Amino acid sequence: MDKTDLLRLLADGELRSGQELAELMGVSRTAVWKQLQKLEGLGIELETIKGAGYRLPGGLELLDETQVRAALSPEADALLQTLSLSLESDSTNAEAMRHIDAGAGSGWVFSTEQQSAGRGRRGRDWVSPFGRNLYVSVIWSFDGGAAALEGLSLAVGVAVARALDEVGMSRASLKWPNDILVDGAKLGGILLEMSGDAAGPCSVVVGVGLNVAMPDTVAGHIEQSWTDATRAAGRPVSRNALLAALLNHLLPLLSGFAEHGFTGWREPWLALDAFAGEPVVMLMGERRLAGIARGVDDRGALQLETGTGVQSLYGGEISLRPGA
Ligand code: BTN
Repeated sequence: MDKTDLLRLLADGELRSGQELAELMGVSRTAVWKQLQKLEGLGIELETIKGAGYRLPGGLELLDETQVRAALSPEADALLQTLSLSLESDSTNAEAMRHIDAGAGSGWVFSTEQQSAGRGRRGRDWVSPFGRNLYVSVIWSFDGGAAALEGLSLAVGVAVARALDEVGMSRASLKWPNDILVDGAKLGGILLEMSGDAAGPCSVVVGVGLNVAMPDTVAGHIEQSWTDATRAAGRPVSRNALLAALLNHLLPLLSGFAEHGFTGWREPWLALDAFAGEPVVMLMGERRLAGIARGVDDRGALQLETGTGVQSLYGGEISLRPGA
């Protein structure tokens, strides 16, 4: 008996007495109490009702390998090598990187209920509370080095938007290079990390974080305007269904990318472009460049129309130009 068994018993949100839990798990009440402490240590909101018992308010849908696998397409199922679901991780991207060093390759997938050191782009933290959102990292190996990966992070954005559409959120759009927005607020982010030879064989970790039902208690730590799938869809969204939908789109994209590259993904990306034709400012270190966003070229570079013509930009942070 461990804290996972206890979590599964409490996941339906029903009130259960310590005695009942002890009987169901075949252990002493003290042993149950110790495991309950561990759940609280994970940051799980556990309600204790004196003299009556314990419950998880609103219940919890835990990640479940059987459910995820059952919802995979035959193609994704064939491409998936290992699906590792854990209760906690420092960062699924960091975990995937460590597994690459230990020999893992294409089709290894890591997802977890909670990250203690979730990584965002540009050195930011990714707020990763327990059991409410999705944190996923997929490893894929490429022969052609960094050049073969041009546009990959943008294509991943398209795959994520398609997965969201499949579970009832058709309004997702993309903020260059690959933030997932709904109605201008951030629902998810993508972080690609590379290991190996920038000019030859390398492995990429594709990390995707999606807010599904962000608790208000942690939302204060997020610096930008955010939303989650539950708010965007107007109803609860199953994390297992969303994880399966994500893999159904992501794994085929990764398996075909070495051959086809960004070609074929550019048009779908443009159709999802949140800032198309908008006045924007690009922040590149200390430099600021104002212009009109004109989509991306076939390498995934942002096309910024300025007074001196259209410039191709490969890095930087885009934002809408206030009052323009
Ligand atoms: C961003 O800043 O927009 C990118 C966020 C990426 C977060 C995901 S969650 C799964 C994976 N593991 C991490 O530590 N980060 C990525």
